[in-house]
Amino acid sequence: MCGIVGYIGFRSAREVLLSSLRRLEYRGYDSAGVAIVADEIKVEKRRGSIDNLKVDFDGSLGIGHTRWATHGIPSDKNAHPFLDCQGKLAIVHNGIIENYLSLREELIKKGHKFVSDTDSELIAHLIEEYYQGDLKDAFFKAIRKLKGSFAIAAIHQDERKILAAKNESPLVIGIGDHENFLASDIPAFLAYTNRVIVLKDKEVCELTDDFVQIYDFDEKEVRRDVEYINWSLEDAEKSGYEHFMLKEIFEQPIAVDNTIHSLISRNDLDLEFDSMVIVACGTSYHAGLVGKYIMEELLHVPVYVYYASEYRYREVLENSLTLLITQSGETADTIAAARKAMAAGNTTLAITNVVGSSITNYVDMVLYTSAGPEIGVAATKTFTAQLASLYYFAIEAARNKMLISPMRYESLLNTLRKVPYYIEKTLSVEPRIIKEAKKIANSKDIFFIARGINYPIALEGALKMKEISYIHAEGYPAGELKHGPLALIEEGVPVVTLVPVDKTYEKMLSNIKEVSARKAYVIALSPSEEVGKYVDSLIKVPDIDPLFSPFVNVVALQLLSYHTARILGRNIDKPRNLAKSVTVE
Ligand code: F6R
Repeated sequence: MCGIVGYIGFRSAREVLLSSLRRLEYRGYDSAGVAIVADEIKVEKRRGSIDNLKVDFDGSLGIGHTRWATHGIPSDKNAHPFLDCQGKLAIVHNGIIENYLSLREELIKKGHKFVSDTDSELIAHLIEEYYQGDLKDAFFKAIRKLKGSFAIAAIHQDERKILAAKNESPLVIGIGDHENFLASDIPAFLAYTNRVIVLKDKEVCELTDDFVQIYDFDEKEVRRDVEYINWSLEDAEKSGYEHFMLKEIFEQPIAVDNTIHSLISRNDLDLEFDSMVIVACGTSYHAGLVGKYIMEELLHVPVYVYYASEYRYREVLENSLTLLITQSGETADTIAAARKAMAAGNTTLAITNVVGSSITNYVDMVLYTSAGPEIGVAATKTFTAQLASLYYFAIEAARNKMLISPMRYESLLNTLRKVPYYIEKTLSVEPRIIKEAKKIANSKDIFFIARGINYPIALEGALKMKEISYIHAEGYPAGELKHGPLALIEEGVPVVTLVPVDKTYEKMLSNIKEVSARKAYVIALSPSEEVGKYVDSLIKVPDIDPLFSPFVNVVALQLLSYHTARILGRNIDKPRNLAKSVTVE
């Protein structure tokens, strides 16, 4: 996720671009830059936030970018905009170009000089390659060559216009009088205009001072109605969602899809190992526990999962591939664990959402999730993106080690690719979940029980509930209840049960009967209608392969905790006593 902006009109492009970029900083903040046509194109770009930019030039046509790194560490040279070899055209890009390696090689062979490590820079060179005095023509030829997700804007110093294209990354046009705007999201220009056109996938737009034309990728003109926005700027930043957490819950289909796409181009994951250690904290630790199940199931290797704060003080297992999971990449305990594993000579692999974050300096390899920046303190989309990475890693490793047949490999990968669709379906169950949230919001305690691969999801459901609603919540393996916690079950205590139709099904029904007999208020998440007979309330979740059921169950539980906290009026995006990055041990 990055933010892009464009302006053409009569105002100071510097002022419009900088103020628009500030409104998009929630989309990424590891570098920023602008390109403005002032006689010739001038560029200012730097690592860090927009406030670091020193723009001492101006004009009335330009583009800008705030970056969330996916290819290449955050640095001045990897910041956008990018220029072509002659420095006459500039581009900004949000998304991932999947075929960048082959295109980049082709362009290098043709003599183009690259200055960054990004996938985006090639777009400037590709347009340059086709440019013969007509930006629109060259732009169309270039974007037809690109595979992947992108929102791109391009300008040329000899032509007063902006060309932009969208495919799977957002792009909106703001319509003004003798001026027009372009951005990844509406708040960027809402201070100037509330008239917008939201571009659809595989569309191109051409903006001049007085003219907006939309085309499809075959250059056929497309007609689109103008919408009038009546939200406030604050609302708009959250795209109309009341909280960042809810927005991020709803971004999960795209976060998971982007993560899978970015991993598919990796060819360096064929690692040798006889055992695996996973180290993480909090929600990332729960992803690690799901990872243990999936790795043991597919790879038949022992997997040990530790809290990073505990791993520090124990004997290190030698000859183990050590996975460090941390969305922020800054968690002090996890970084300390990485250093300890490295010092013991283990191969280390970090899974993180932040390119160039501290952990990446202390490991041998990095797998990036591509969830985009997560603003809400409670981790949601980074969790499902971590799961996607762990599943992908396990499926690829099982194939490389010839532990699964080609048919099973295809079927697992296909199901993983369909996870975004199943998450989307789960999100549509929100109204049912709101009803349950109303019923449980005044409880003193809530229990979450599950078995097998969903046991970590019960833990995660309880953690989410505690941290944002402040209700005491516990997750348990369902079979453990009778060894103590059952004493706490009395009339009306909510017990949330996860009941996929797999080898745990019958046993889960028995556990449900146990708590029902103590008059608990039993909620079940299950694709099976039959479960409804045994519980007070069944929330039907999509019928996905049970091995992948953690994805749908966790999304439903995130919504349950969100709506419970909302009913209680909690500070959902910033729960008390907590911080997004925990940099103390
Ligand atoms: C809970 C949550 C925390 C983090 C934990 C680790 O919603 O967000 O439990 O998961 O602090 O953070 P990272 O993954 O950044 O190492």
